[in-house]
Amino acid sequence: MKNENSPKVSLVGAGPGSKDLITLRGLRVLNAADIILYDALVSEELLLEVDASIPKIYVGKRCSKHSFTQDNINILMVENAFKYGHVVRLKGGDPFVFGRAQEEIDYVESFGIPVSVIPGISSALAVPSGQGIPMTRRGVSSSFWVMTATKRDGSFSEDLIYASKSSATMVILMGIRKLSKITLEVSKYRGCEMPIAIVQNGTLDNECCTIGTLGTINSYYETLDVSKPGIIIIGNVVAEHPAFFEEEVQRVLHSSL
Ligand SMILES: C[S@@+](CC[C@H](N)C(=O)[O-])C[C@H]1O[C@@H](n2cnc3c(N)ncnc32)[C@H](O)[C@@H]1O
Repeated sequence: MKNENSPKVSLVGAGPGSKDLITLRGLRVLNAADIILYDALVSEELLLEVDASIPKIYVGKRCSKHSFTQDNINILMVENAFKYGHVVRLKGGDPFVFGRAQEEIDYVESFGIPVSVIPGISSALAVPSGQGIPMTRRGVSSSFWVMTATKRDGSFSEDLIYASKSSATMVILMGIRKLSKITLEVSKYRGCEMPIAIVQNGTLDNECCTIGTLGTINSYYETLDVSKPGIIIIGNVVAEHPAFFEEEVQRVLHSSL
C-alpha cells in the first residue's frame, strides 16, 4: 500500500485507567490516527471509543502477553509512520511520568519524523485523588514527591531516603513488590505509626485500596495481587481516608487484648 500521509508521531497520555479520564484532545488525536500502538496499562474500553477501522497494535511490556522491548517499540513507531502516516503512541497516564517518552521522541526525531506530545492525567495524581487522599493539605503536608523505589540497576533510590527525611507526601510508583523493604527504610525516619495506603487498579471498576501504617501494612501483603499496577502513598494525609480510622480502631482494640 502506498502511503500518501506524511509520517508523524503523537505521544498521547491515556490517563490513569478509566476510559473517561483521557483528555478531549487526546481522544480527538486518537481518532485522527492512521495507526495506534498502545501500552499494557491502556484500557481496552478506551480503545473501543476509537474508530474501529484504525489499526491498533499492542506493544505492552507487562506479564502474560507478549512483551515488547523499548527497541522493538521505537522501531515499530518509525516503520509504521513511514508505512501509514500518523502513528499515535498511546501511553498510560502521562507520557513523561516514568514513561520513557524522551527516548521515544529522540529515536523518532532522528529519522526526521516530527513528534508531538498530548499530556495525560498521571496515575500519580489521579489514583490518590480518586480515593479521596489529598496530596497536600494545609497544616498537614505542603508538598508531594512522586518517585520510584528503585533505580535502573535495581538498587534502592536515594530519593526515597531524602523524601523519607522530609514531611512531604510520598507517592511511590512501581513499588508494590518491594513493599517490605520500602516500609523498613521509610519507618527509620518516619516511625511505624506513619499512615500508608496501597491503591491497585486505580480509577477502574476493580480498584482496591489497602490502608494501614508502616508498622502494619506488610501483614496485608498476601492479599495483594502484585501483578496488578499499584501506587503506594505514605504520609499523614492518608489518615484522611475513612478506612484509616477503622484500621486504627482495630489496632487499638487488638493492642489492649
Ligand atoms: C511505567 S509507570 C507509568 C506511569 C504513567 N506514565 C503515569 O503517568 O501514570 C507504571 C506504574 O504506574 C502506576 N500505575 C499506573 N496506572 C495505575 C493504576 N490505574 N492504579 C495504580 N497504579 C497505577 C503503577 O505504579 C505502575 O507500576
